[in-house]
Amino acid sequence: MRRSIAILVFVYHLSMCNGSCKHGRTILTNETGVISDGENTTTYPSYARCEWLIDAKHPNKSIYLEFEFLDTECSYDFLFVFDGDSYLSPTLASLSGQHRPGPIVAKSGKMLVYLFSDRNYERTGFRARYSMQDCPFNCTGHGNCIGHQCYCFMGRTGNYCQLEECPQNCSSHGACVMKDDNSTYKCQCEKGYAGYMCNISLNNSEGSELWYTLLPEGMGLEPRSAHAGAFVSRTECLYVFGGFSLNKVLSDLNYYCINETTWNSINRSEPWPKGRYEHAIELFEDGFYMFGGMLDDENYSDELWFFNVTSETWTLCANESVFKPLKLSGHTLTRVEDNLYVFGGKTKDGLFWSNIYKINGHIPTEWQEVLPLAGKSSARRLVGHSTVYHKESKSLLIYGGYSHNADEPRYGSHKDELHMFHVENKIWSKIKTNEALDNGPAPSQRSFHSANIMGNYMVVFGGNTHIHHDVEKCYDYEIYLYHLGCHIWVKAELLMGSMYHFFVCLYVQ
Ligand SMILES: *[C@@H]1O[C@H](CO)[C@@H](O)[C@H](O)[C@H]1NC(C)=O
Ligand SMILES: *[C@@H]1O[C@H](CO)[C@@H](O)[C@H](O)[C@H]1NC(C)=O
Ligand SMILES: *[C@@H]1O[C@H](CO)[C@@H](O)[C@H](O)[C@H]1NC(C)=O
Ligand SMILES: *[C@@H]1O[C@H](CO)[C@@H](O)[C@H](O)[C@H]1NC(C)=O
Ligand SMILES: *[C@@H]1O[C@H](CO)[C@@H](O)[C@H](O)[C@H]1NC(C)=O
Ligand SMILES: *[C@@H]1O[C@H](CO)[C@@H](O)[C@H](O)[C@H]1NC(C)=O
Ligand SMILES: *[C@@H]1O[C@H](CO)[C@@H](O)[C@H](O)[C@H]1NC(C)=O
Ligand SMILES: *[C@@H]1O[C@H](CO)[C@@H](O)[C@H](O)[C@H]1NC(C)=O
Ligand SMILES: *[C@@H]1O[C@H](CO)[C@@H](O)[C@H](O)[C@H]1NC(C)=O
Ligand SMILES: *[C@@H]1O[C@H](CO)[C@@H](O)[C@H](O)[C@H]1NC(C)=O
Ligand SMILES: *[C@@H]1O[C@H](CO)[C@@H](O)[C@H](O)[C@H]1NC(C)=O
Ligand SMILES: *[C@@H]1O[C@H](CO)[C@@H](O)[C@H](O)[C@H]1NC(C)=O
Repeated sequence: MRRSIAILVFVYHLSMCNGSCKHGRTILTNETGVISDGENTTTYPSYARCEWLIDAKHPNKSIYLEFEFLDTECSYDFLFVFDGDSYLSPTLASLSGQHRPGPIVAKSGKMLVYLFSDRNYERTGFRARYSMQDCPFNCTGHGNCIGHQCYCFMGRTGNYCQLEECPQNCSSHGACVMKDDNSTYKCQCEKGYAGYMCNISLNNSEGSELWYTLLPEGMGLEPRSAHAGAFVSRTECLYVFGGFSLNKVLSDLNYYCINETTWNSINRSEPWPKGRYEHAIELFEDGFYMFGGMLDDENYSDELWFFNVTSETWTLCANESVFKPLKLSGHTLTRVEDNLYVFGGKTKDGLFWSNIYKINGHIPTEWQEVLPLAGKSSARRLVGHSTVYHKESKSLLIYGGYSHNADEPRYGSHKDELHMFHVENKIWSKIKTNEALDNGPAPSQRSFHSANIMGNYMVVFGGNTHIHHDVEKCYDYEIYLYHLGCHIWVKAELLMGSMYHFFVCLYVQ
């Protein structure tokens, strides 16, 4: 009897060493190794709380983690990576779904990897290799590592010397110039070209249906999510305010101009909005408005700010308004002629809303609530939807978003519905949109995507498309075009390949 117990304990211990996951912490001190929750053919356990602490036994030494695969239940099961030995250490990554994450580096000499699963269903988990290095990525072989810091060789830049200064000599469409702070060289493109190596032509008739990298990783901003921004046509610059970096709520305002190859930041002046995320920004004349969002004290905001691009100053608007909108996040802010409309979003108590508010953008003093005269508002309580204004039909077009289910309010789902709100007669209607030209695919339900109007099309990009227990895919990276005259989805390739198809569509109309 006693012997069999001893064997059982021993077997359990062995399986822990093999890296299987139940509860508890595994400490790894070897220079290199592999961590995983178990075989790639078996799933991790339900309600897993497993930790791997990789300890280089030296502060400032880098720990490099490279994934072979990641496969967790999207939005419910997570793999967290921390730069340090506890959950209070800076978060490096919060990973979920099925994709292969890029390499992750901890610089504190310790890396904590934590697998968390709920009581729903499970997937196969992850497998990653780690190695301890004196410098991150070993300076990618393009620099000297001295005191745990990379000193790049001539012509190299970036924290790990991973970037070339003026790659391909700026593709002979730009000059290689010193940055303002004299730190490194950068390309300065000639007129008509853009991108960090000046090889993107801005001529509409050149180029193909491809994505172009304006700035590679490492030349961008501090990584963030749930930020908001606006593109100012006059200066051809994209402005981005705030967002969440996994560790803090950001309050910086940065801009990227098409004619430059670096981000710039706006110097702080008084007054300046508090950091926020899941706020909304909309262009207005020579600047942009910003409404709502979540603050770092977990409060939500009902502030309306205007940023003047010429004077580079913020103004708080409508502070004395008699009527105040709710404090919201995940809502939209949309310009309609002289007005700005706020729609949807959620409040701090977790409730979703379909309220519509408006304010005059030229005289931003008084908020008004817009009360629909017909159509059910309660069916339109959305977060993470998109709203665009379609001038020809005088309507706000609201697509997708996340909503609680009417029958079971405890559960929610992403939506694929298109709603229309006529701003003059204040009537809601729902458009049947599941048809696509040539039987092409209409986009599936989604939220936190983006939408814009281009010509006679609404262009929808990306979003979270996860359907619990059905579609495991977390995010989509496709572009969808919705023809606003024919009310039909059109495959992007069709439109780019041939003009013929949309004439057919117009005649049908
Ligand atoms: C660490 O390295 C030693 C010697 O190479 C090896 O015997 C041991 O199994 C390794 N430990 C782990 C957890 O990989
Ligand atoms: C699972 O791992 C084995 C070896 O460890 C490998 O040969 C196989 O391709 C992996 N399968 C998947 C689906 O990743
Ligand atoms: C680690 O890096 C910090 C900041 O660069 C430095 O102040 C500290 O002395 C370093 N510690 C060791 C043990 O090298
Ligand atoms: C780091 O780079 C140096 C020089 O490029 C090389 O000698 C060394 O082997 C590399 N170390 C690792 C762990 O790759
Ligand atoms: C890069 O281009 C400039 C002019 O555009 C030229 O003067 C220079 O010699 C080139 N450098 C290299 C390394 O090709
Ligand atoms: C960069 O170098 C130039 C010329 O040497 C100098 O005038 C300027 O002050 C320097 N700028 C900074 C930010 O160090
Ligand atoms: C620009 O250069 C990059 C890197 O060589 C390349 O991947 C990309 O396709 C080029 N873009 C164009 C428009 O030539
Ligand atoms: C744009 O490209 C087309 C086709 O290559 C060319 O005919 C035209 O001159 C270009 N326009 C400009 C402004 O470069
Ligand atoms: C880019 O354009 C802006 C005006 O829109 C101008 O102020 C700036 O100097 C330009 N930068 C370069 C590098 O040409
Ligand atoms: C921004 O602030 C820095 C440091 O305070 C100063 O050197 C720089 O001139 C300022 N830039 C502008 C555009 O005001
Ligand atoms: C949130 O806002 C309320 C009301 O404005 C305020 O009383 C409270 O202190 C704020 N919460 C925090 C954490 O600051
Ligand atoms: C923006 O600032 C400029 C320069 O101070 C000023 O002339 C302009 O009227 C301002 N625009 C708005 C909309 O406040």
